[in-house]
Amino acid sequence: MRVWSVANQKGGVGKTTTVVTLAGLLTEVGYRVLLVDLDPHGSLTSYFRFDPDEIERSVYDLFEQPALTAPQVNSLILKTSHESIDLMPASTALATLERKAVGKEGLGLQVAKALRFLQDRYDFVLIDSPPVLGVLMVNALAACQHLLVPVQTEYLALRGLERMVRTIEMVNRARRQKLTHTIIPTFYDRRTQASVSSLRELYQRYPDQVSGAVIPVDTKFRNASIKGLVPSSLDAGSRGVHAYARLLRQLLEVRKAGQSG
Ligand SMILES: Nc1ncnc2c1ncn2[C@@H]1O[C@H](COP(=O)(O)OP(=O)(O)OP(=O)(O)O)[C@@H](O)[C@H]1O
Ligand SMILES: [Mg+2]
Repeated sequence: MRVWSVANQKGGVGKTTTVVTLAGLLTEVGYRVLLVDLDPHGSLTSYFRFDPDEIERSVYDLFEQPALTAPQVNSLILKTSHESIDLMPASTALATLERKAVGKEGLGLQVAKALRFLQDRYDFVLIDSPPVLGVLMVNALAACQHLLVPVQTEYLALRGLERMVRTIEMVNRARRQKLTHTIIPTFYDRRTQASVSSLRELYQRYPDQVSGAVIPVDTKFRNASIKGLVPSSLDAGSRGVHAYARLLRQLLEVRKAGQSG
């Protein structure tokens, strides 16, 4: 089982879209996929038509007590409308977690511990993370083998990214195995100067981390979310889906070569 987290301390950069689109593409290759929603807003949960305000059991339950059991973890998983995609949903109660977690030791590994019970059930786990550095993002970073960092190609994109890179460095001081990451340029529009210059700057500053696949602006992503479908089911031929497919091929190749996640 491989675990990838998607995170950036900046909001609205395409994190949830990255999770959903890659999930759809992974199932096309025959993988069983679990999605974990660690964002108190529950966008990923809402995407699949579950209501984070109403939901009774959610990832929140993982933080109620340090000891977890297999039945407890399994009971949190929901089937989605997509046959090979399951979901561990978020509830709005997650928003209270940061306050409650203050001073409590050991809560940073709850998601990692929960996933150990699911080793045989899934090939891939994709974790959606909130745009805030706190106990939930720490869990996302601790539970994964590889991190995906979507970055919107616009002015000031790099400033937000610098914060995220510092966070990764901090996490790496505490991890035995180094956390590798891939920066994914998103919302790219080659007609705008802001997109072109920020992409160039990304490649200059982070030549080894920026993905060769660049995700273009594509309205199909929004259409897919309105319909609650993974983008590749709505329109497999769209430019956006093509770009994510290219990204996925690169990520899987790196994996085969044994370099990371
Ligand atoms: N490449 C794209 N082209 C056009 N629209 C996109 C693209 N990627 C995402 N979107 C749309 O932009 C909005 C924000 O994307 P998304 O929810 O994936 O970002 P996010 O980083 O998860 O945001 P948040 O920080 O609020 O969780 C959504 O309406 C989504 O459909
Ligand atoms: Mg999101």
